[in-house]
Amino acid sequence: MAFQQCVSSVCGATYGIDEALVACRSCGSLLDVTYDWQRVGPPESLTYFEQKWSRRLDPICFSGIWRFHELLPFAPADQLVTIGEGQTLLHASDGVAKYVGLNASGLHLQYEGMNPSGSFKDNGMAAAFTHARMIGAQRAACASTGNTSASLALYCSVTKLMRAIIFVGSGKISYGKLSQALDYGALTVQIAGDFDDAMDRVKEVSRDLGIYLVNSVNPFRLEGQKTIMLRVLEALHWNPPDWIVVPGGNLGNSSAFGKAFAELKHLGLLDCVPRLAIINAAGANTLDQLYQHRGLRWNDGAPDMSIANNYYDELDARNQRADTIASAIEINRPVNLVKALRALDVCDGVVREVSDQEILDAKAQVGANGLGCEPASAASVAGAKLLRDQGVIAPSDRVVCILTGHQLKDPTATVAYHTTDQEMFNKVLGARGVKRASFANRAVAVSNDLDEIKQAIRLYS
Ligand code: F0G
Repeated sequence: MAFQQCVSSVCGATYGIDEALVACRSCGSLLDVTYDWQRVGPPESLTYFEQKWSRRLDPICFSGIWRFHELLPFAPADQLVTIGEGQTLLHASDGVAKYVGLNASGLHLQYEGMNPSGSFKDNGMAAAFTHARMIGAQRAACASTGNTSASLALYCSVTKLMRAIIFVGSGKISYGKLSQALDYGALTVQIAGDFDDAMDRVKEVSRDLGIYLVNSVNPFRLEGQKTIMLRVLEALHWNPPDWIVVPGGNLGNSSAFGKAFAELKHLGLLDCVPRLAIINAAGANTLDQLYQHRGLRWNDGAPDMSIANNYYDELDARNQRADTIASAIEINRPVNLVKALRALDVCDGVVREVSDQEILDAKAQVGANGLGCEPASAASVAGAKLLRDQGVIAPSDRVVCILTGHQLKDPTATVAYHTTDQEMFNKVLGARGVKRASFANRAVAVSNDLDEIKQAIRLYS
């Protein structure tokens, strides 16, 4: 019923699901998990999934991933791995809608920070662990800007199914995320380099040592991430929004969302799909460069990869590395580039870049309206605002921004934004071109004196 298939229309090679592959053996392209839907027999309507809510005592129905098992049916029910992921909510936020320039009720935030490890990665990790368990893997590895490693480490420590080995760029991961990997007991390898270096190395190491790779080049991981869109649809009573706005780093999420919508349309479960906006940080803007400025397109499964390769050569010649306060998306060589092009094709997508200033201002607005997020997540809100300002998104559109990671993942960026300490501001943010903190909520410093404390409260509250 399920097999792996090369995404290239020129190649299209297929493989069994009993293999752990991260690229087509024949042409090197990415792989999909593909289903023979006629044999699977998917539900006839998305409302079918509502009956799972009354069976929440069953961990498979409780999981925000596996309650949609019928739409990612690569594993038998007794193999599914869950630690209770996917209990995430779609919140309407009129405060953020106003900031973005949308009508009241027009903006929703999909808060993936509520996952057990505090980011959307748990959606994919539940699926990857299920596959790893099916094939009997003993060790799992990833390169990470922090959230994949936190998620991998957590799933290993809870399930004890595998030993976690994580590769992080030295100094390139926020303390919130690093502390998770260390606490959960992962073997943590800090490489003198950045995420792109770590990604290259982990691929080599896992190939040579036969370690299961859980980065988003693993097609099973993306099956889990499809369910973020299913939960968004569920929360909107199965009426798709006009726009999904998502930060773009390694482009796993955007790829998974595109696959979800293509499948829902193919299965007749959705008539029209939302438009997709993928938002890069300006300091890590490969997709924006390639898609907006150099014309790289999906091209029916045969994209002209020389456009991307020439761009990478230029980056190397300039020795240009990714650089943004949104460390989660500080990536110049997104491994899922080709699948993201497909997603843009399926969803009539657009790509934009936003500055660190725009990201941090948007993040402060998200926080002030009740849902803290880490900087990378706020790229979605900053991107929605930019697209609204440009008239691409209309004021009456219904927009869903994906908040990919929890606010506590990166306290350094948040505290530096709100600080009164100019030196700290300059060191953390000023060096990245952030000039002001328009929405800063500054702490009030007082001496340990009752009258002075009361006076400060009278003055500021
Ligand atoms: N937002 C957050 C909070 C992330 O951690 C990531 C990716 C992204 C957005 C980008 O998502 O790669 O699907 O485009 N973090 C990876 C990691 C790279 O290693 O944790 P993407």
